[in-house]
Amino acid sequence: MTTTLAPTLSEVDLPRHEELVEERLVLWYFVAALTFMLVAMLAGILMGLQLIRHNPLPTIELLSPGRWRMVHTNAIAYGFIANAFLGLMHWIVPRLTLRPVFDRRLSYAIFFAWQFVVLATAVGILLGEAQGLEWGETPVWIDPLAQAGLLLVAINFGAPIVQVKGPLYVTLWYYLAALVWTFLTYAMGNFVPEYFVCGSSAGAVGGLFIHDLVGLFVTPLGWGMMYYFVPILLKRPMWSHGLSLVGFWGLAFFYPLQGIHHFLYTPIPMFLQYGAVLSTIALEMVVVTVIINFVGTLYGTGSEVLRNLPLRYFYTGIAFYFLTCLQCALQTTLTFQALIHFTDWVVGHAHMVMFGVFSLWQLGAMTYLVPRLLKTDWYCPEWCEWHYWASAGGLLVMAGDLILGGLFQGWSWAALQPWESSVQVSIPFWSVRMVAGLVMFGAHVLFMYNLFKTWQKSRAVTAL
Ligand code: HEM
Repeated sequence: MTTTLAPTLSEVDLPRHEELVEERLVLWYFVAALTFMLVAMLAGILMGLQLIRHNPLPTIELLSPGRWRMVHTNAIAYGFIANAFLGLMHWIVPRLTLRPVFDRRLSYAIFFAWQFVVLATAVGILLGEAQGLEWGETPVWIDPLAQAGLLLVAINFGAPIVQVKGPLYVTLWYYLAALVWTFLTYAMGNFVPEYFVCGSSAGAVGGLFIHDLVGLFVTPLGWGMMYYFVPILLKRPMWSHGLSLVGFWGLAFFYPLQGIHHFLYTPIPMFLQYGAVLSTIALEMVVVTVIINFVGTLYGTGSEVLRNLPLRYFYTGIAFYFLTCLQCALQTTLTFQALIHFTDWVVGHAHMVMFGVFSLWQLGAMTYLVPRLLKTDWYCPEWCEWHYWASAGGLLVMAGDLILGGLFQGWSWAALQPWESSVQVSIPFWSVRMVAGLVMFGAHVLFMYNLFKTWQKSRAVTAL
């Protein structure tokens, strides 16, 4: 007979959830994220109205749509996406490592500093201080503060992760990598073109920055959360650990090589352009393995997606991810670029990635976590369903509409029609975008109101 000396999980003195997770902070991050999403959507609506010649605020410089377009993209990336990820990491990292973050006071300091960075960026942009690189518009004087903030974030979450003994769960590989990559990517985009290189070299670095922000900041944090939530909701492990490895290392290897696919047909040397095209196609293959892994995990319990709302959000995002990657493999070719470059195809693609994939994942996670944070069910679960259908449906219409509109614009330019004709062709597509955008905006307001009522309900329950 063999005697086992290793304690079973139930015998180990595990720290309690409350000792690990600062729940209040998770909620604050979610509220901040949703508020910035509201601002970003209003900014998007203003820009969209300008394009259909219905700008409601035509003569006010501070409210000019060009500036609000930058507020739109910055508030989404740094206000919504980053805040939501930080909130989720405050939940996930301590639960997976069984250790709290490095310092809770630091967590609060980072929270306030980050809100300051996002607000100051918006104000700086409106005052005309933006820098000329998309997503890197942050005024010069804020860059060092944001960079220092990212270092503190890396220390705060990195400390519990590196103390883990034994193999790391896949979520933690993604998180650890993202902490390092985000710090480096931000530095590359906000300091290198500004102070060290110019001309086509600066263009190449800029392309790398834009792409790495999506690939090395948003993507690893996004897949990291998916590897955490999906097995929990399905109550089964991931289908293949081997495929998780392929996905992670494929991302690490191919993503940093492809930034120049944003600048095809430019003076950047052709060997770099060809390299970017090849590595983009290679990455699409890797991505398919990740999707197969998630579909394999769902296999046999597919009906759960219909019943379980957060799971539906996650798998809808995976479906959009597959579509965007398919699109990417096409649009990265030189043949296709000749048609769609500078068209609304790209804007449709951008909305599908940022909202259809990552925001839906984050909104799904919020839908799952808010009742756990507030210790009460949603005030109106029905509204959560409405929020899902209007957000996912609105996005599908918006992205489909812009992608199609982009083709018409490309054909108009290829036929050497006057510029004005391509604008006329676009107006119906831009009008449909407004309708879809207003539906998404309405859904967002409903979600925030539901959250507010749920918070009120939780207070009433606690007071009893
Ligand atoms: C109320 C809903 C929305 C409306 C009306 C809207 C509208 C717009 C408009 C008009 C632009 C500028 C397009 C151009 O310059 O031609 C834009 C760009 C962009 N929007 Fe939105 N948007 C909305 C929601 C969102 C959401 C929720 C996200 C992400 C989560 C998002 C991400 C982006 C991105 C990444 C770009 C930059 C696209 C590029 O440079 O190619 N938008 N949006």
